[in-house]
Amino acid sequence: MALTITAHETLDDAIQLTWSDGRESRFHHVWLRDNCPTSRHAETWERVDDVLAYDPEARAIEVALSAAGEVSVTWNDGHRSCFDGDWLRRHCYCEAARRERCLAPVTWAGGPGAGPPRAAHDAIMESDAGLLGFLEILRDRGCCVVDGMPDDPKAGEALAKRIAYLRETNFGVDFTVVSKPNPNNNAYTALELPAHTDLANREMPPGVQFLHCLVSEAPGGESVLVDGFHAVEVLREKDPAAFELLSSVPFDYRFHDTEWDVRWRAPVIGLDADGALREIRYNNALREPLNVSPELVKPVYRALRALVAVIRDPANEVRFRLAAGEMLVFHNRRVLHGRAAFDPNGGARELHGCYVDIDEMMSRIRVLGGENLLA
Ligand code: OGA
Ligand code: ZN
Repeated sequence: MALTITAHETLDDAIQLTWSDGRESRFHHVWLRDNCPTSRHAETWERVDDVLAYDPEARAIEVALSAAGEVSVTWNDGHRSCFDGDWLRRHCYCEAARRERCLAPVTWAGGPGAGPPRAAHDAIMESDAGLLGFLEILRDRGCCVVDGMPDDPKAGEALAKRIAYLRETNFGVDFTVVSKPNPNNNAYTALELPAHTDLANREMPPGVQFLHCLVSEAPGGESVLVDGFHAVEVLREKDPAAFELLSSVPFDYRFHDTEWDVRWRAPVIGLDADGALREIRYNNALREPLNVSPELVKPVYRALRALVAVIRDPANEVRFRLAAGEMLVFHNRRVLHGRAAFDPNGGARELHGCYVDIDEMMSRIRVLGGENLLA
């Protein structure tokens, strides 16, 4: 292993290891006993021992390091555990290690001249390194335009399937975005679509969205992207009360037509258990009448207007024309997307869309990096 253990010390309720880079990792006895490799099935590597299967007060009475970097522990009940040093390091839970393991999105503003990151269709399709590079852009920046797409309505789906199976919704496995008669959603008109996240009306809106442009002849219809994480950080700075309200007060969202009535109620700003930004959920077209305690009505409108003003600020937008043969791909629960109105009488405009979820994207990144084979 790259790092070695240079010292170990048995404390009252923990073992402390010192690594060759100076880091000190403290592992509680109960944590080590819970994670003894014998508590897992040798082939599935899933747990078989219950949390009640061992004495939570078990104490390490002897600790030894092997030349191969293993840490052997003898417990006071006679049980023995042998931990792989690399594994211990990967699972260290000191503050610094936990911070390092948090994904740090690279947030971005926009402004005139700003463009999205790009990747090439053939590189993604033809090599795992190309696919991984593209997925890392999506993970970190939240969007990417893929160039050199074949002139084939199935090409977007084929690229998405390099990641995993597609996420089906009430709009189908894939969908065609054109201005059409009897539309059941604003995307199927020629109207402007202000920056939004798709399917905010679902318990889990789709994670990665693909919009492959096949025809782009109609005047207008420029694409817009806004990094929702950047926008809410700007809001948090300018107006902490608005941030607080939008991360706690739920909005109702709904899609309904002759076949479906799909609804969900959740805050615009989704935080995870550690208070970090997890998702943005905002779609004005699907926003239902506000349904909150009367005393919150005016403050919530004020907070929402403050956020939308940040989202609509040209300094935070990346605006560009998606050309035929390009595909816009973005993290739909982070980056808002939209389009300008277009003139359907001036030419055709046709996009093909589909979705893959974030679990599958993150899994593909880990598998391409070989992480899935590590305990
Ligand atoms: C959509 C959408 C953007 C566009 O279909 O969800 O936002 O450029 N389309 O038409
Ligand atoms: Zn959309």
